Amino acid sequence: MIASTVHSATSAAPPLVGMPTFRLATPADDVFVEELQALAFGPGRFARTAFRVRERFPIDKSLSLIAEIDGQAVASVWMTPISVGGIDGYLLGPLATDPAYRGRGAGKLLVKEVCRMALARGEGSFVLLVGDAPYYGPLGFAPTTLGAIQFPGPVDPKRVLLHSADETLALRLAGPIAAFGAGKRA
Ligand SMILES: CC(C)(COP(=O)(O)OP(=O)(O)OC[C@H]1O[C@@H](n2cnc3c(N)ncnc32)[C@H](O)[C@@H]1OP(=O)(O)O)[C@@H](O)C(=O)NCCC(=O)NCCS
Repeated sequence: MIASTVHSATSAAPPLVGMPTFRLATPADDVFVEELQALAFGPGRFARTAFRVRERFPIDKSLSLIAEIDGQAVASVWMTPISVGGIDGYLLGPLATDPAYRGRGAGKLLVKEVCRMALARGEGSFVLLVGDAPYYGPLGFAPTTLGAIQFPGPVDPKRVLLHSADETLALRLAGPIAAFGAGKRA
């Protein structure tokens, strides 16, 4: 288990024992998240194409979530506002769970909640990610048109997945990743 400076969130009703809950990340989580990402992705993580996107466009800290189990921070997810082909949306990632707590639903909880929160704002039309279809497919992510969405580096086009209320968008979305606000609603 990695070290964490995080303490249990205050809530009206205690969460069920062993069940993941989520909350917004705070600056006090920074060390935990850094250690977790280093553990999950290793030193090569800064060369990953998704990290290059986050170098160009800042993450939205109001969409940085932490999952906790029994008051212990165990997982983290970030969102980067972007646009593609004139349509605003979000790039999800990195998503990582402490190896000691994997398989307990924390990762799926964070994906569901961060997508719900982002799209409920009504400012972006999709959530994009580079990941494994067997994991993200059941969470509402669909394959995109191979090679249509251009990243600032190499990606396996089969791993470029999209979640949107508009089921036609995954196959329609095309163009380079650009700044959020350059686009419009789909
Ligand atoms: C991927 C990851 C975030 C999942 O976190 P988690 O909290 O264990 O996820 P959950 O508990 O919600 O889901 C676990 C389930 O997903 C499955 N799963 C995990 N990774 C998977 C993958 N890459 N492909 C398919 N299924 C996967 C597990 O086998 C498990 O299945 P089960 O519920 O049938 O037992 C975690 O394994 C991790 O941090 N991996 C390293 C970093 C990484 O690869 N991040 C994703 C980048 S796209």
